[in-house]
Amino acid sequence: MKESLIEETKKQTRAEAQGAMSLNVAYIGIINGLFEAIRHLGTPSADEIAKETGMDPAYVRRWSEAAFAFGYLDLEGDHYLLTPKGDLMRPSHPETLMPVAIGSVLSTHMADRAAELMPTGERPGERVLGERKNILPWFGAMLEANFSGLFEREICPGLEIYREFDKKGGNVVDLGCGNGWYLRALAKRCPGLRGTGLDGFEENIQRARRLADHQGLSDRLSFRTGDIKTFAHEGPVDLIAMNRALHHVWDEKETVFRILESHLAPGGAAVIWEPAWPDTPESLRSPRKRPLAVQNLGEHVQGNHLLRPEEIVEAFRAVGMVAEISLFSEGAEAVIVGRKV
Ligand SMILES: C[S@@+](CC[C@H](N)C(=O)[O-])C[C@H]1O[C@@H](n2cnc3c(N)ncnc32)[C@H](O)[C@@H]1O
Repeated sequence: MKESLIEETKKQTRAEAQGAMSLNVAYIGIINGLFEAIRHLGTPSADEIAKETGMDPAYVRRWSEAAFAFGYLDLEGDHYLLTPKGDLMRPSHPETLMPVAIGSVLSTHMADRAAELMPTGERPGERVLGERKNILPWFGAMLEANFSGLFEREICPGLEIYREFDKKGGNVVDLGCGNGWYLRALAKRCPGLRGTGLDGFEENIQRARRLADHQGLSDRLSFRTGDIKTFAHEGPVDLIAMNRALHHVWDEKETVFRILESHLAPGGAAVIWEPAWPDTPESLRSPRKRPLAVQNLGEHVQGNHLLRPEEIVEAFRAVGMVAEISLFSEGAEAVIVGRKV
C-alpha cells in the first residue's frame, strides 16, 4: 500500500472511531434521561442537570463535557443548552435518533459476545439481548422509532393490502408483536380494525398493553403472551403480520406457515416483513446493506439467521399460498405478502 494511502486510511479509520464515540456519549444521555432534562430545564448547569435526573454531579459534569465536545450541547458560561443535534437525541422527539445510539451500543455488545463465543461455536440464544439491562427496556422503542416511519412513509402507501385494509378494516393478528407499535399504527389509520398481538416476552406484552391504553386503543387491541409456534386463534383472521419475527422461528417454518394458512380467512393475507438478506455477497458492500451483515452476526449468536425473500415465498408456496415480494429502503427491507386463495 502506498504511504499516502496508508495515511488516508488511518485518518478515515480514526474518523469512524469518533462516530462510535459520539454515539456512546449520546447513549448515556438517552439512558439516563439527560437530553430530555436539558430540554425541560432550558439552560442548566451540570449540577442542575444532575439534580433534575437524580444522577451523580461529578459524572454529569464529565458527560456534559463529552456531549459538548461532540456537538450535542452548546455552552453559555457554565450552563449547557441542547444543539439541534442534541435535541434529536431526545427519545420523545418525533424524528429521534435514539435508535441509532442504542443500536450502536447493542452492536458493540453483540460484537464482544461473538468474539468471546467464536472459539467454541456456542450460540447462547436470544437471552443475549437481555444481558444488557440498560438496553432491554429500550428495545421496543428502538424498533418503533426505526421502523414506524418507514411503515407510514413507504410500506403502507406502497402495498395494495394496506390500501384494502384502510378501506374495510378487519381482524389483524401480529405474531411477535414486541411493544405493539404496528397494531397501534394500523388501528389509528383504520377505525374498523380489531387487533391481537402475541409475543413470547411478558414484559413486551405489558408494555404493549400500556401503550395501547395510553393512546385510547385498548378497546380494539388486545395483547397476550404466547409462542408463535403454537399460536391458535378463534375464528378466521383477515391479516396476520410478522414483523422481524419470522427469522426467530424459521427452524420450525413448516409449523409456522401451516398456522398462518389455517388461520386466514379466504382472501386473507399474511404479511411478513424481514430484513432482506441479499443473494450475492457483493451487495453487502452497499452502505444501506452493510448493517445487515453485522446484524446477521448478532443473529448467529442468538441461534438465528437472516432470510432471503425468495425463501419466504417458497415457504408460502409449500402451504398452497401465492406470495409477492416488495422491497423498501434501498432493497434492505422486504415485505412478502402471501394471499390465501
Ligand atoms: C425483532 S423483535 C420484533 C418486534 C416487533 N414485531 C417489531 O417489529 O417491533 C422480534 C419479536 O419476536 C418475539 N418472538 C421471538 N420468538 C418468538 C416466539 N417463538 N413466540 C412469540 N414471540 C416470539 C420476540 O419476543 C420479539 O419481541
